[in-house]
Amino acid sequence: MAALDCLMRRRSVRSYTGEPVTREELEKILVAGLIGPTGKGKKPWKFVVVTNPEKLEALSSMRRPAPGAFKTAGAAIAVFGNPSVSDTWVEDCAVAMENMHLAADDLGLGSVWIQGRLREADAGGSASDRARAVLGVESGLELEAVLLVGRIEHHPPFHSEADADWSFVSWDD
Ligand SMILES: Cc1cc2nc3c(=O)[nH]c(=O)nc-3n(C[C@H](O)[C@H](O)[C@H](O)COP(=O)(O)O)c2cc1C
Repeated sequence: MAALDCLMRRRSVRSYTGEPVTREELEKILVAGLIGPTGKGKKPWKFVVVTNPEKLEALSSMRRPAPGAFKTAGAAIAVFGNPSVSDTWVEDCAVAMENMHLAADDLGLGSVWIQGRLREADAGGSASDRARAVLGVESGLELEAVLLVGRIEHHPPFHSEADADWSFVSWDD
């Protein structure tokens, strides 16, 4: 699919059938994240893949309230950044998230960005601390976000060029 078509089709999908996502599909999505551009070419990140339903449920407690979409998603990809490796870790991880979000759509899967950075966990404390505890990730890594991936039950309507809000744009003439 041409890139612009893919961008138009992309939506945040939060309604999944509950069916699993295959390892092959997840590897394709991860490649899209891992090849993304990063500041100075550093790769200040760690991707943790979760497919076990009990672990998905536990991970949902990273946010208050715990998002219900974790119950039917086939997988979650938690993207952690390492501030000691690069001062552009937030941007680098965000680019990887978007690349993976688009790749999922291109594969006919639904996905949604669940924000982690600057967010609170269900039981208090930071989303990052909770995600690290659930996933056994070392301290020093900060959670950027989690990409939920699943088989689509409901896909919102595709975007069209009419959705572009030109009031945010100014030209130099
Ligand atoms: C930085 C960022 C954080 C987001 N955080 C969440 C989130 O925590 N939960 C969620 O359901 N969607 C989240 N989203 C998805 C947005 O809500 C969604 O992109 C927006 O409403 C526009 O809808 P669309 O993606 O279908 O075009 C986030 C998106 C971005 C880019």
